[in-house]
Amino acid sequence: MKITVVGAGNVGATVAQQLAYYELAREVVLVDIAEGIPQGKGLDLLEAMPVLGSDTYVHGTNSYEPTASSDIVIITAGLARKPGMSRDDLLAANAKIVASCAQQAVAHSPNAIFIIVSNPLDVMTYLTLRVTKLPRHRVIGMAGVLDTARYRAFIAMELGCSVEDIQALLLGGHGDSMVPLVRYTTVAGIPLSQLLPNDRIEAIVQRTKDGGIEIVNYLKTGSAYYAPAASTVEMVESIVKNKRRILPCSALCDGEYGLRDVCIGVPVKLGARGIEQILQIELTDHERALLEQSAADVSKNIAKLVELGY
Ligand code: LAC
Repeated sequence: MKITVVGAGNVGATVAQQLAYYELAREVVLVDIAEGIPQGKGLDLLEAMPVLGSDTYVHGTNSYEPTASSDIVIITAGLARKPGMSRDDLLAANAKIVASCAQQAVAHSPNAIFIIVSNPLDVMTYLTLRVTKLPRHRVIGMAGVLDTARYRAFIAMELGCSVEDIQALLLGGHGDSMVPLVRYTTVAGIPLSQLLPNDRIEAIVQRTKDGGIEIVNYLKTGSAYYAPAASTVEMVESIVKNKRRILPCSALCDGEYGLRDVCIGVPVKLGARGIEQILQIELTDHERALLEQSAADVSKNIAKLVELGY
């Protein structure tokens, strides 16, 4: 396994560290345009490996030649939000960065599975599909795992129980209109609605939706990276080990949930081929309406890509 991580910022470097720590690849390449940063962080990570007992070879570069024949490419490059910004405010700037990174990466690794982490997430996933022309099972956006991780963390805090026992599902875009599905949230198999009153559940759902900006408002100069990196690595593990985890990820819908030509968070089975299956679950009219609204929001932003010439 060879994995390329594009973007040596906080998310990219943390992803590279965890990939190496869990020895999920024999080689991890960190790429960034900033001179010296990927080389320095790559070398620092390499020097940690004897202590961690991992034989992953980590190195950094400013060019794409050393990324050739990667099995997985993870795109984290782009600007992060500052307080007062929505993820959508990053669209034009990050479209340019992500399109360029994706084109260069796919030229050297035409068989790779791409995982997109840059924001606005669903739009950048769609853009990557468009510029790489890869089949839809090989371009996957990371968002639902992060959003459900936040949701699960808040539920565990509220109940004073282990995070391990919280199972949750969330649909829709990685934005204000994400759709946490309370009906599909269980604690050791017990529906959440039996354990918490509605008003507490609603507060947790709202905090989950605001999970990204809550961190941005603390950090001021950037956005979250530990939970986004952990979520990305969970997806990589499912692919590398062909575990076939069922995880909420952004995928191109082609009729699923009645949606077409939009990347949006849906439950997918992740295995060695990438997206092995998009699972279609039953939704109430209300849940379906929320998903459709979220898809409409993402589609509006996808239309902006066309205006930008992509
Ligand atoms: C977040 C940003 C990175 O949710 O989208 O933290």
